[in-house]
Amino acid sequence: MDEQQLRSRDWFGRSGKDGFIYRAWMKKQGIPAYELEGKPIIGICNTWSELTPCNSHFRELAEFVKRGVLEAGGFPVEFPVMSLGETLMKPTAMLYRNLASMDVEESIRANPLDGVVLLCGCDKTTPSLVMGACSVDLPSIVVSGGAMLTGKHRGRSIGTSDLWRFSEDYRSGKMTDMEMSLAEAGMCRSDGHCAVMGTASTMACMVEALGISLPGNAAVPAPDAGRKVMAQLSGIEIVKMVKEDRRLSTILTKQAFENAIVVNAAIGGSTNFVIHLLAIAGRVGIELSLDDFDRLSANIPLLANLHPSGQYFMEDFYYSGGLPAVIKNLLPHLHANSLTVNGKTLAENVSLQECYNTEVIAPLEQPFNEVSGIVVLRGNLCENGAVLKPSAASPELMQHTGRAVVFENIDDYKTRIDDPELEVDEDCVLVLKNVGPVGYPGMPEVGNMGLPAKILAKGVKDMIRISDGRMSGTGFGTVVLHVSPEAAAGGTLGIVQDGDIITLDVGARLLEVALSEEEISIRKAGKLQAEANVPRGYVHLYQKHVEQAHLGADFDFLKGGSGSRVTKDSH
Ligand code: FES
Repeated sequence: MDEQQLRSRDWFGRSGKDGFIYRAWMKKQGIPAYELEGKPIIGICNTWSELTPCNSHFRELAEFVKRGVLEAGGFPVEFPVMSLGETLMKPTAMLYRNLASMDVEESIRANPLDGVVLLCGCDKTTPSLVMGACSVDLPSIVVSGGAMLTGKHRGRSIGTSDLWRFSEDYRSGKMTDMEMSLAEAGMCRSDGHCAVMGTASTMACMVEALGISLPGNAAVPAPDAGRKVMAQLSGIEIVKMVKEDRRLSTILTKQAFENAIVVNAAIGGSTNFVIHLLAIAGRVGIELSLDDFDRLSANIPLLANLHPSGQYFMEDFYYSGGLPAVIKNLLPHLHANSLTVNGKTLAENVSLQECYNTEVIAPLEQPFNEVSGIVVLRGNLCENGAVLKPSAASPELMQHTGRAVVFENIDDYKTRIDDPELEVDEDCVLVLKNVGPVGYPGMPEVGNMGLPAKILAKGVKDMIRISDGRMSGTGFGTVVLHVSPEAAAGGTLGIVQDGDIITLDVGARLLEVALSEEEISIRKAGKLQAEANVPRGYVHLYQKHVEQAHLGADFDFLKGGSGSRVTKDSH
């Protein structure tokens, strides 16, 4: 692409009043005229925020991207977009994923940008930025923020997955306030996102497997000097991508999505991967369904020994060779010739990579677990599907029939879960309704609900739990998630009652409630459909337009893209 074809020339290449306005106000920032005379203008889409602690180092990271852009002959312009902090946002950061994606899409399209660097870190900041960028389809590259250093508590390594154990120990009285406070101080010791293969690291691996980040991007820890190098190299690469007109749509083929699913299985990635990858596929018009996840991950063993499915942490993953080492081992199962951002294939990118520690990254022939990936369940309790992560579940519960103990919503659960009078034993199945996209609204990560205190007191660590919500990527247990249709959208989940008999058979991919079709119809007829009940504002829009989990929970009107053309001028 020569400089006259650059999109930004439609702003800065103009004469007369319009060009004057476009250039003059940029120059007030101390930008010399020559910077706007035909260099590729590279946007750095920054999710820095002190309310997103996982991304709090992004202002510094952006400076290294700028170095790379300048070195390659481009001109960098940093701009903020809505940042989604997983730990602080109420009712759940997921409620705002689609909103942030709209901010990203419109900010890119409206401005004089030729290419974009997406600075992504905490869970939702990756899918929201990628979704928005896909709907514009300029050359774009992801730079992840990197995971934090491994947490430490009483000489032991800890990560976010331990939080769920701490919580159970605290509730059952095994952990004191003082002990909790000590663990809290040791959990997050540096810049970066969660130190385990939770959703943020899963998303970083997803973009690398899709080919939309440089190889090695996923695993470099945030405080490692290599993270800054990765940012600078990505700045160089995006200028090349603009010159070669390498857009997201040239990389994000069906094969790239299939690669991401296979890789996610091998690393024991988060169940949230399903919902975000479906939404991204929807933005680039790739046909992807829940069944693709089950089909493609069914024969993929677990190659990464990382929390929550294994023992180690993201820092260890990096020292062992990171995602390129996993991809190299997995090549027989991948579309090795898929194109990536640097113009090379997936296979070319990993050809020189070695694995430095087989305790952390296993060869294909000797996996840590034959079971991995995402299982998609079907049955009368989830007509459009539900998901379960077998590597984080208990083998003895994979085929189980039990009595339902039903919570109508999260408040009901919180009120009654520790009630000594609750009629529950460890063979029961805990059912939580109305935590789906429409019902909550926003589909929070409450699916791995804590066990009843009286069950914990017996030393029981796992029970089957079923909901229309999600689970933190750091969570574990025999947890059925994303039940679709959700209770609030007329799903059978909504009419399950205490005492109903539920069967989970992971091998048969079955989730059933022992009710006749007739009984289900009668119960549904007697139940009023929940309406979108928030009268105004963004949440009103969300409830009206969010799709069900099996479609990715994007807004119906955001599917696809509108390209990068802007047909009307501002002056
Ligand atoms: Fe941000 Fe875990 S809270 S990645």
